[in-house]
Amino acid sequence: MDLSRITLRPFRLSDADDLLLWAGDDRVTRSIRWKTLASKEEALTFIGEVCIPHPWRRSICVDDLSKGFVSVFPGSGDERCRADIGYALAVEYWGQGITTEALKLAVPQVFKDFPEVLRLQAYAAAENIASQRVLEKAGFLKEGTLRKYSYLKGNLCDLVVYSFLSTDINPSV
Ligand SMILES: CC(C)(COP(=O)(O)OP(=O)(O)OC[C@H]1O[C@@H](n2cnc3c(N)ncnc32)[C@H](O)[C@@H]1OP(=O)(O)O)[C@@H](O)C(=O)NCCC(=O)NCCS
Repeated sequence: MDLSRITLRPFRLSDADDLLLWAGDDRVTRSIRWKTLASKEEALTFIGEVCIPHPWRRSICVDDLSKGFVSVFPGSGDERCRADIGYALAVEYWGQGITTEALKLAVPQVFKDFPEVLRLQAYAAAENIASQRVLEKAGFLKEGTLRKYSYLKGNLCDLVVYSFLSTDINPSV
C-alpha cells in the first residue's frame, strides 16, 4: 500500500454505502462501542446524526473512499487537558500500516484543532494486540493496565492505557 493514498476527512452522507461495508461488519465493530450497522438507512442516519456532529471524527480514506474512522473526543472542565482517541478499519485493509498512518496524520491535527488538549489517550482491550501495536507504532506510550475496567460488548475487559502528549511531537523543542 502506497501510504500517500491514505487521507483523513470528515464524513459525508455520500459515504453511506462505503461505511456500511465496514461498519456493518461484526469483525470491525466487536472491539469498539459502535453498534453494527444493518442497512443503508442506518448508515445515513448514523452519518447525519452522529458522525457529522461529532467533535472530531474523520473517515480514514483510501483513494478518498471511506474505509475506517478515527475519532477524538475532548474532555471538558477539569478534563479539558485530555482527549480520547478511537479508530477502526475495514478488515480487507488490516495489516498494511493504514491505521498507524491515520493516527500519525490525526495526532498533530488534533493538537492544532484543540489547543487546550495536551494529552491524547487511548484504551485498548488487553487481548487487542493489533490495536496496541498501532498505538506503539504511532508513538504512544503504554502507561499500564486497568484491570476489570470496563465492559465491551458485554465482556468485562482489562484495558491497556496509552498516551501521547503534545510535547511528544517534537520533544527537542
Ligand atoms: C486494530 C486495527 C485498527 C489495526 O489496524 P491496521 O491498519 O491493521 O493496523 P496496522 O497495519 O497499522 O498495524 C497492525 C499491527 O498489529 C500487528 N498485529 C495484528 N494482529 C496481531 C496479533 N494477533 N498479534 C500480534 N500482532 C498483531 C500487525 O502485525 C501490525 O504490526 P507490525 O507492523 O509490527 O507487523 C484493526 O485491526 C481494526 O480495525 N480492528 C477492529 C477495531 C479495533 O480493534 N479498534 C481499536 C479499538 S481500541
